[in-house]
This record gives sequence, structure tokens and C-alpha cells, in this order.
Amino acid sequence: MSIVSLDQPESSAGRRLLEPFKGRALAPPPIWLMRQAGRYLPEYREIRAKAGGFLDLCYTPSLAAEVTLQPIRRFGFDAAILFSDILVVADALGQRVEFVDGEGPKLAPLSSAGELRQLNPGSVAAKFGLIFETVARVRQDLPRETALIGFCGAPWTVATYMVGGGTSVDQAEARSWAYRDPDGFESLIAILAEVSVEYLDGQARAGSDAVQIFDSWAGSLPDDEFERWVIAPTASIVRTLRARHPGLPVIGFPRGAGHNAQRYLAGTELDGFGCDTQMPLGAMRRLAQEARTVVQGNLDPLLLAAGGARMEARARAIVEAMAGARFIFNLGHGIVPATPPENVARLVEIVRAPGTS
Ligand code: CP3
Repeated sequence: MSIVSLDQPESSAGRRLLEPFKGRALAPPPIWLMRQAGRYLPEYREIRAKAGGFLDLCYTPSLAAEVTLQPIRRFGFDAAILFSDILVVADALGQRVEFVDGEGPKLAPLSSAGELRQLNPGSVAAKFGLIFETVARVRQDLPRETALIGFCGAPWTVATYMVGGGTSVDQAEARSWAYRDPDGFESLIAILAEVSVEYLDGQARAGSDAVQIFDSWAGSLPDDEFERWVIAPTASIVRTLRARHPGLPVIGFPRGAGHNAQRYLAGTELDGFGCDTQMPLGAMRRLAQEARTVVQGNLDPLLLAAGGARMEARARAIVEAMAGARFIFNLGHGIVPATPPENVARLVEIVRAPGTS
């Protein structure tokens, strides 16, 4: 039973993260970091040990809410991101998903259209409900001025894990299935697009101010496959979600999209674009001007882990390059566990006062 009610009306006025989506360029820019909750924080490791498995942590609203709030207390980011995982969707569909310490996710791989019958889109509500309860709890405990970002994995990226059985360097299993049997693979993508909309819709109803779609492996597809497996399913999620939640900002993070970035934005009609570490600052700036989108990014997480003068100079260069644009400061990929928390504190200080040392 849920102890907090969904659909609670609450004003989002004064949340700096949302201003760029209303057309305003802020100085200093709002800041949050992908994977800002996690193993680099001792207080996370403590709760993680208490929870048992990683999925147990995701499905225990009191603990998931606590770890969502930890980086906000420490660093005062402009946004919290719901603590969960993109693979919760695969687990809720009934696939066997495990997180093995030190090895990452392990899934019982799917390899043919016939096996899709093992997935049960009708059964996701119980597990999704626990995630929505986390969102509602976090919203209740967050400072009023802090935005809350919900998220899901894009169908393509989630499919690479469901088909490959874990993290891979080249997403070969999913790409091969897409070539061998495009209609069968499309059935999997369609199931993921459909449940992802329900997942994001529930997070929005429970109090998320914006959502992000993580397409971490968008870069592994050739341009003629990019339309079908990255743009089309993302566009369908955006369209359905927007009809239900007009005004909810939706950010895409198609890591490695490279030359396909403009096409991705034009085809998906997203409100925000998360830039990876490779995107040149000039291209980021042009994207913000020409595509009329909010741009987010793109400090290298390994540079943040290294810290020091190079990190500080690069952070200032990013802020300077994006001055006057509708911009949100972030990393170009998630924080790595080896990051000293004091480097994160220093980064926040620099982004908020770039001229001082
Ligand atoms: O703070 C936040 O950003 C919110 C929480 C969050 C997690 N995963 C927590 C997590 C978010 C937004 C994600 C997204 C995610 N998960 C992505 C997309 C972003 C990206 O990094 O490309 C992907 C591909 C996954 C799948 C996943 N989950 C992998 C490959 C791994 C293992 C690698 C690792 O870092 O251990 C996870 C586990 C995971 N998800 C952890 C956390 C904090 C670490 C698990 C632990 O604590 O034991």
C-alpha cells in the first residue's frame, strides 16, 4: 500500500532547472550530473549494503528515496534524478535480471520473436508502482526549488541488454537480430516503447518535473538503421507522453549519435538534448541555436574523477561556450565510482561562479 498519494498538485515555480525549457538562458546555468547517486558516495555504499541486492534497493521506496536525496544534500544540485535503473523495465516484464557485484547486469538473453511470449507487459504495474512511490516520496522531501527528473532507457538501449544478456562492447546480438529478423525485433522494440510510456507517465503523475530517455548505445547503429531503432521508437514515446503531459520537458541522451544528432532532434521533437563527451563545444552551441532545443552536457566523467586545474579549466570553457544559450550543465556520461566527492563539490562551485578561483 502506498503511504503517499499520487497526483499531488504542487507548484513547480522557482525550479531553475525548468527555466531553459520555458525559453530562458540562465547564468549561471542549472547543474545536475548523470549517475549523481551512486558508489562514489560513502553514504550510498552504506545504504546499498543495507538493501541487499541492487534491485532490492530500486524496489524499496524508502531506501531508493534516501539515495536519490543524498547528492542533493551534499551538493545542492538544481535537480535530483530518481534512483532506479533502466533495466527495471526488463525485470518488470518478467525477464530474469541480476546485478552481479563487480560485473554489472546479467540477464537471461532473449534471441527470437517466439521468446517474446515470455514477456508480460500486463504484469508491470506492481513493480512500477514501487518506483512511482519512490518518486512521490522524493518530491515530498526535496527542497521546493529542486526539480525531480524521472527517466527510462530508450527501447534500443534496453533491447541491447535484453538480447545480449548484459553490457557488450558492440551490441552485436541486438544488431544481428535486427538484421536477421527486423519484424521480430520490432515486436520487442514496440513492447518496450509501450511500457516505457507507462513508466514515464506514472513517474510524471507521481511528481517528476521532467524526464530523460537514456539511449546509451545509440552510437552503435549505422545511419540507415538509426531511424528505425532509435528515432522512431523515441518519437513514439515522446508523442504519447506529450499528449498526456503537455509541457513536461523530455530530454534525450543518444550517446554516440554524432552526425545523426540533428536528425534525431528533428525526428523525435524532444525538448532537450544530452550531449556526450565527444560533441565539440561549437557544435553544442550551434545545436542550441539552430535546433531551438535545450542543450545539456558534456564534461568528461573521467576528467571530473581526475579533478584539478584541467577539470576546472574545461568546466569554465563549457560554461563560457554556452553563455546566452538555453543550457544545463552536466557530464557527457555518468559519474564513475572512482570520483572523489570533493571534485564534485568543486565543480558545482565553479559552474556557479566561473569567474572566481
Ligand atoms: O543517479 C542516477 O543517475 C540515477 C540512477 C541511475 C542508475 N542507472 C543507477 C545505477 C540511472 C539513471 C541509471 C541508468 C542506466 N543504467 C543506464 C544509462 C546511462 C548509462 O550509464 O549509460 C544504463 C546503460 C544502465 C544499466 C546498468 N545499471 C549498468 C550497465 C550497470 C552496471 C555498471 C555499474 O555502474 O555498476 C548498472 C548498475 C547501476 N545502476 C548502479 C547504479 C548506482 C551501480 C550498482 C551498484 O550500486 O551495485
